[in-house]
Amino acid sequence: MHDALWLNANLATMAGAVPYGAIRGGALAVTDGLISWVGPRSAWQDKARREYDARGAWMTPGLVDCHTHLVYAGDRAAEFELRLKGASYEEIARAGGGIVSTVAQTRAASEDELVRTAQVRLRQWLAEGVAVVEVKSGYGLDRETELKMLRAARRLQGLTVKTTFLGAHALPAEFKDRADDYIDFVCHEVMPLAQADAVDAFCEGIGFSPLQVEKLFIQAKKHQLPVKLHADQLSDLGGAALAAKYRALSADHLEYTSEAGVRAMAAAGTVAVLLPGAFYFLREKQRPPVEALRRHGVPIALATDNNPGSAPLTSLLLTMNLGCTLFRLTPEEALAGVTRNGARALGMQATHGTLEVGKRADLALWQIDSPAVLAYAMGANPNVGAVIGGKMRGEPRGGTPPVAP
Ligand code: NIG
Ligand code: FE
Repeated sequence: MHDALWLNANLATMAGAVPYGAIRGGALAVTDGLISWVGPRSAWQDKARREYDARGAWMTPGLVDCHTHLVYAGDRAAEFELRLKGASYEEIARAGGGIVSTVAQTRAASEDELVRTAQVRLRQWLAEGVAVVEVKSGYGLDRETELKMLRAARRLQGLTVKTTFLGAHALPAEFKDRADDYIDFVCHEVMPLAQADAVDAFCEGIGFSPLQVEKLFIQAKKHQLPVKLHADQLSDLGGAALAAKYRALSADHLEYTSEAGVRAMAAAGTVAVLLPGAFYFLREKQRPPVEALRRHGVPIALATDNNPGSAPLTSLLLTMNLGCTLFRLTPEEALAGVTRNGARALGMQATHGTLEVGKRADLALWQIDSPAVLAYAMGANPNVGAVIGGKMRGEPRGGTPPVAP
């Protein structure tokens, strides 16, 4: 006996050989918060305590946003205006603006305030069927505020939160011209106290050098924390290959990544996380090497990169559209990028990202005629319900909701 059953759903399982792993006229059962049966309705012969009629809605895995900076204080609208007048993101950062201006506001905010503002922002993720969100620290750059950000992230409600320690995001003013000392401080005085699922860094001219990142990664390995990297966003410092050398879960951005970097990622099983929102908002020209990523079989994930400076983007669905229009991903690649490969970028592929027996029952229901519509419809939200750990999240809204008979 299964706990619950959804009938009359079209399933985009994102597993198997057919496009989207699609099963039209499917059935999906859930038991103890896990998927316990998936297949065509005609093959279902078991019993379930509760039945839901999905009325022809499409069901996908709950979406995964594998790269965000969702916890922060203040905004950077003034910086946006400066950029529109011609200043570049890098110029603003070098002049003492950029990331460190958000740091000042985040240090001043209380933990409760950070939770409150992030939870308000998070409403849109919840409304768009997102089941897992990764949240980075990195606007503290001192021990107290980095830990405060991670605590705030873990307090967010309504979905699964994965936290990433991003102490090496920018150099705080008190360490001016002492980047090596700052890395030592992060490694020895903050990382040991950071409760996080992974460690990340910003490898860039305005961030940290490959050597500094390597020091941090060696320390992360000592704490048995997997690593991720903001790599090759504005220039090619060999970030992708560096991430691969440390078997990173993911290397993110990748606009300037070389073929050699792509090859190294493929060999290491490192996921490419593309962030078209930042590319768009910074009006970048150089596109990530999508063709090479495909050729070498590197899994491609897509994420919002939500942050106040380079991507004040709050929609993972719109991110799918941007991935297709700006980076020429197919709608199927875009959906894989926010499900199967997004989960892989967080090391959650055993439990999340596809509709397969044994995986967690995080599901999203959509009133659409085909799964390509998720990437096609700019700014629309066809979500009509979400199931988190086998339970319906809130009341389904809009359209013709799936209802219990
Ligand atoms: O992923 N590149 C570094 N970090 C963020 C931007 C952070 C900010 O500008 O506040 C990013 O783009
Ligand atoms: Fe980022």
